[in-house]
Amino acid sequence: MQTQSVATARNLNWPLMHNNITRADLDAVIEFLKQDNPILTQSVNVRAFEKEWCEWLGVKYSVFVNSGASANLITLGAMRELYGPGEVIVPTLTWVSDIASVLQAGFKPVFVDINPRTLCMDNEEVLRKITPSTKAVFLTHVLGYNGLSQRLLDELKARNVPLIEDVCESHGATFKGRKLGNFGSVSNFSYYYAHHMSTIEGGMVCTNDQSFYEAIRMFRSHGMVREATSDQVRNSYKEKHPDLNPDFIFAYPAYNVRSTEINAVIGRSQLKRLDANNEIRRRNLKLFLDGLDSTKYRTDFDLEGSCNYAFTLILQRPDTALRDKVERAMRQAGVEFRRGTAGGGNQLRQPYARKYVGDREFEKYPNVDHVHFYGYYIGNYPDLETEKIGELCRLLNPL
Ligand SMILES: Cc1ncc(COP(=O)(O)O)c(C=O)c1O
Repeated sequence: MQTQSVATARNLNWPLMHNNITRADLDAVIEFLKQDNPILTQSVNVRAFEKEWCEWLGVKYSVFVNSGASANLITLGAMRELYGPGEVIVPTLTWVSDIASVLQAGFKPVFVDINPRTLCMDNEEVLRKITPSTKAVFLTHVLGYNGLSQRLLDELKARNVPLIEDVCESHGATFKGRKLGNFGSVSNFSYYYAHHMSTIEGGMVCTNDQSFYEAIRMFRSHGMVREATSDQVRNSYKEKHPDLNPDFIFAYPAYNVRSTEINAVIGRSQLKRLDANNEIRRRNLKLFLDGLDSTKYRTDFDLEGSCNYAFTLILQRPDTALRDKVERAMRQAGVEFRRGTAGGGNQLRQPYARKYVGDREFEKYPNVDHVHFYGYYIGNYPDLETEKIGELCRLLNPL
């Protein structure tokens, strides 16, 4: 306790995220707005951002939308329209929109516990839960950790089960040297303020599959056929529906989840420094985990290829007294944190999920339940002063 009071003498003033939209980004917006009559709705900057994102990620097609949740929503909506109903295997530790999008599209979610070393779905449990009704595996790369193994990829390919990657929390993280978001038949990103890069709000759907790309473009804009880039797709609808004005053919019961030129200008400016920022984040996470007392806190995360906008602080044991001390110490030191990590912990404990899967289902997933009660995330941003990382570890270790 003595060490604690010495270390908390200083307020660390450490938010979850800091300065993620910089002066340079704001200046880019100001420059853009200096034009006479700029087009503000989705136009050349959205297209340029999509192209630059494709180049950065290494995929053929990207569709910019107004949030990561929208990316999830239209991905699952398009899958349901194209491939029909069935089951989708989902994580218990993820953001609500990953489960909500599955439910909203009319799929049955099948839940999987986490691997404590990656916080992502336990790959063996995923494979055990595949049935003839499985339409997809929707895997979240949690807080910058890679959730893939070669065995999972090989098995999914052999069993012809599509993989959807949610990379909303893991921009720049890799598996075997390739960026996450390249392995699924489709991948989703978020540019919410607290993530690796921000467009204020925003998201991206990425794929190498041209027909899925055309469907996603339509899904982004009310299901409108004129949004398709392929003449063949547009003409086939025109020919089949001669009674309709070709400007107003709605192929799918979809949404408007478009973003704007201003968000795309910010995204293009941000992308220029994403890799450099991610290098700092990688170094910071290692410093944090190296500094923690591994008898009290988990430090054995699988760091290979990881790229984390948040530190994961997870107690080794379900020790409520230690948990209370940790929370008190961080509050006193001005360190913002989120219990349960990014999505609030075990999704199956949430009221919306209990309604679908029953009130006691959450009990079957002990690994995520541990993180729910004894896990935290703390901000890891590029201008975080490195000495604060050591100070926080020195504060936490004696507790
Ligand atoms: C894994 C995951 N998926 C989807 C989302 C939704 O992204 P957004 O906040 O941009 O809607 C989040 C959000 O934080 C997330 O962490």
